[in-house]
Amino acid sequence: MLWIMRLSGFFSAAMVMIVLSPSLQSFPPAEAIRSSHFDGYLRFPGQIPPVNSLNRLSFRKASAFRNAEECGFTDTRISGEMTVCDPSFVHIAITLDVEYLRGSIAAVHSVLQHSMCPENTFFHFLVSETNLETLVRSTFPQLKFKVYYFDPEIVRNLISTSVRQALEQPLNYARNYLADIMEPCVRRVIYLDSDLVVVDDVAKLWTTDLGSRTVGAPEYCHANFTKYFTANFWSDKRLSSVFAGRKPCYFNTGVMVMDLVKWRRYGYTKRIERWMEIQKNGRIYELGSLPPFLLVFAGHVAPIEHRWNQHGLGGDNVKGSCRDLHPGPVSLLHWSGSGKPWLRLDSNRPCPSDALWAPYDLYGTSP
Ligand SMILES: *[C@@H]1O[C@H](CO)[C@@H](O)[C@H](O)[C@H]1NC(C)=O
Repeated sequence: MLWIMRLSGFFSAAMVMIVLSPSLQSFPPAEAIRSSHFDGYLRFPGQIPPVNSLNRLSFRKASAFRNAEECGFTDTRISGEMTVCDPSFVHIAITLDVEYLRGSIAAVHSVLQHSMCPENTFFHFLVSETNLETLVRSTFPQLKFKVYYFDPEIVRNLISTSVRQALEQPLNYARNYLADIMEPCVRRVIYLDSDLVVVDDVAKLWTTDLGSRTVGAPEYCHANFTKYFTANFWSDKRLSSVFAGRKPCYFNTGVMVMDLVKWRRYGYTKRIERWMEIQKNGRIYELGSLPPFLLVFAGHVAPIEHRWNQHGLGGDNVKGSCRDLHPGPVSLLHWSGSGKPWLRLDSNRPCPSDALWAPYDLYGTSP
């Protein structure tokens, strides 16, 4: 692939720049060297356009969080590469971009608030813009986290238009590449969208038994699976036979437990990319990053309790009308769909469910 070929060039250029440029002090060379196995996703900040809109984003500092005694020994070393391989960590991957930043910060906040062992969580942030690291650090001073640069060029040629423009953002596709981006010692990760809050101990989700499966997610077998793909897809037997011998059910890719060891072993990134290429050459679905996951994994996911993804609170993809909670217990609330709670709250036209998001919001300055 093209970006792999560009890799070595990038890396040597990065090293030269680090030596030459004083503006790269925030990106120590040691970090660049340690990160060499995924440097295809890293560019040095000097190449990233400055994000002016960040100037008007400010967040309050979250209150300190501590492990309960039951958590046992906790590592007190500073966060970073030194400790990312610690087997006691719960690894969570989430994207950070300016438009959804308020949501991502609220999601992190919610995880910390409901964890018995919040100091055992390690966050992996995927970004396509610079400066966000400082913002995360000032909002969550104790947080263990690492920021990875996801190069939009990796997916630029693979993305096709979809029903909603937000679904075409390159960062939406970063979840396809987690197994490559993250350190090989990270064997499992929980991927979370930016428009959700966790209202239960995430450790319960983390310890889900995936059996022989690679991906775990709540399944919705009553949803009409046909509608996620076009008539073209269903009428072309070479394509639709991918579901032969499977009982495919819809699942939402906003909350997934992923076995990265199996993902790497079976090369799922490539399989997803192959479907994106097919989509490029002849429309087989209308949504963004989700359908390729259905093509590869539907019928093969480890089912997780529905309480871990109460989705659809954003309303449908077009109108964003209010939706009620589904019946049953709730561990995670997800504003999937076009309406986002922070926008609706700001416009003074919130949906009833948005009141459940508001307590985790850290946007704004302290009174
Ligand atoms: C499922 O959706 C397809 C395509 O929109 C439609 O043709 C079909 O009638 C639907 N099936 C059911 C059971 O609603």
